[in-house]
Amino acid sequence: MEKEIAIYIDGIYYPKSNAKISVYDHGLLYGDGVFEGIRAYEGIVFKLREHIERLYLSAHAIMLKIPLSKEEMLKAVIETLRKNKLTNAYIRLVVTRGVGDLGLDPRKCPKASVIIIADSINLHSSSAKEKGISTMISWVRRNTVDSTTHEIKSLNYLNSILAKIEATATGVDEAISLDKIGCVVEGVGENLFIVKDGKLFTPPSSSGALSGITAKVATRIARSRGLEVFETRITPFQLFTADEAFFTGTAMEMVPIREVNSRQIADGKPGPITKKLMAAFQKVIVDPNEGVPIYS
Ligand SMILES: Cc1ncc(COP(=O)(O)O)c(C=O)c1O
Repeated sequence: MEKEIAIYIDGIYYPKSNAKISVYDHGLLYGDGVFEGIRAYEGIVFKLREHIERLYLSAHAIMLKIPLSKEEMLKAVIETLRKNKLTNAYIRLVVTRGVGDLGLDPRKCPKASVIIIADSINLHSSSAKEKGISTMISWVRRNTVDSTTHEIKSLNYLNSILAKIEATATGVDEAISLDKIGCVVEGVGENLFIVKDGKLFTPPSSSGALSGITAKVATRIARSRGLEVFETRITPFQLFTADEAFFTGTAMEMVPIREVNSRQIADGKPGPITKKLMAAFQKVIVDPNEGVPIYS
């Protein structure tokens, strides 16, 4: 029988089938908490410090006190990977408000809970990267920047889930959300880029997009190759008529978009700039300087 993965909950490891939290945890009752999705490649946890930094920023925004220092959190992630003897993994780091009563007042939750799952994730078929994926612009508007904004990586993902449900019901791979003024923002869990006349454009976080770590890496790679990258609002028209388009995200990595609302992007094949950036990205993710080694 395959050995069950060991899941970290508040400093103790539990086998997957027995890794449980209280039904009074406000993470469950109210989506009150924050999280990160992180990947390890070939023994290196890619951008681990950046993910931990963002986790603490999200926690700060919702006034959630994480019961570990950033360094302790980093060690706990590494230890979880070691415990499971993993070198390649998808890590889900979750901090919930913790156990409270049935009212939503966070003051009733004396201690936040930390959960670390080191497993794998597979969002699309293996052909997605070679052929690109189909998308649609969803009726679900991105949350505005004033409340459950995706700038905070919180446990409130219903917005993304509704968009994903619509994409699936429509028969396309992914959904893209609009901001309040009707410009495209991002996918359900990934940032959006278009290429036009050799330049890259991506929507700013002021439109409600998460400030993506993969997007930052993609931007850095593009700039190092002499390409200009602009953070700017993108209209649906600009997306439909882009030369190339792609998503970036920890779970999805980099994936070309071949279609939006039945309109082909250019010739419907991954474009040359996208392909070049994807190839460079594959090298960056295994570079020891880009992350934290698991076994050192
Ligand atoms: C809403 C949203 N946008 C974008 C991203 C991509 O961000 P990152 O590249 O940091 O994983 C994610 C995933 O974390 C996300 O949940």
